[in-house]
Amino acid sequence: MTQIEIAAPAAPPLHLSALASLRIKELEEGTQALRRSVICAFNQLLDLKDLNTGVHSTRLAEWGLRVGQELGLDEATLQNLEVAALLHDIGKIGIPDAILRKPAKLDDQEYALMKRHPEYGWLVLRLLPGFEHAALDVLHHHESIDGKGYPAGLQGSEIPIVSRIVCVIDAFDAMVSSRPYRQGMPFEEAARRLILSSGTQFDPDVVQSFLPFAQADMENVFAAAGTAVTSAL
Ligand SMILES: [Fe+2]
Repeated sequence: MTQIEIAAPAAPPLHLSALASLRIKELEEGTQALRRSVICAFNQLLDLKDLNTGVHSTRLAEWGLRVGQELGLDEATLQNLEVAALLHDIGKIGIPDAILRKPAKLDDQEYALMKRHPEYGWLVLRLLPGFEHAALDVLHHHESIDGKGYPAGLQGSEIPIVSRIVCVIDAFDAMVSSRPYRQGMPFEEAARRLILSSGTQFDPDVVQSFLPFAQADMENVFAAAGTAVTSAL
């Protein structure tokens, strides 16, 4: 019987594989640049709607990434985390100003509409190639560990880890930041509230990981908010 010998495919010449590697690197860099441009463009939109301050969103992204690294998240998840931390409230662009800026408590109907902002954010972000997962993370950033959050009522580990992180750091930032109509809370009070709601609203592992970073960063938070650390702490 005649045996047919199959020759192994020849390795590409070195210069060709080097060119391919260079091309892949260029494509990856292009994708990253596009990603950054999209994030910047959406941040501009948030600014136009007066829903954003650069300091606030940058701080959330920094805190989120530090917590994510502490929890051992992989690189792809950390990238989604950065997007979700920066753009979690992008859906508020779809909420009428009369509700967003109402100086009094929202009535039931208004609150029901306000609670649709995670869904609106998801609707927009899921259309962007590479942002599909971050869109889901945005969709779930108001879920609670006990299942009493929205929009899906997910519980515990059903909630994406990125959403659980954004939920904690956003809540903390809202508590300690000063607004025109109220003074930000001292760190100790905000930390007490996070701990009190660990296991019901917040992921306890995220809270435990986050609080030391937050405490170390409080001086920057109050400096950015124009509030003296000594008076706030
Ligand atoms: Fe939100």
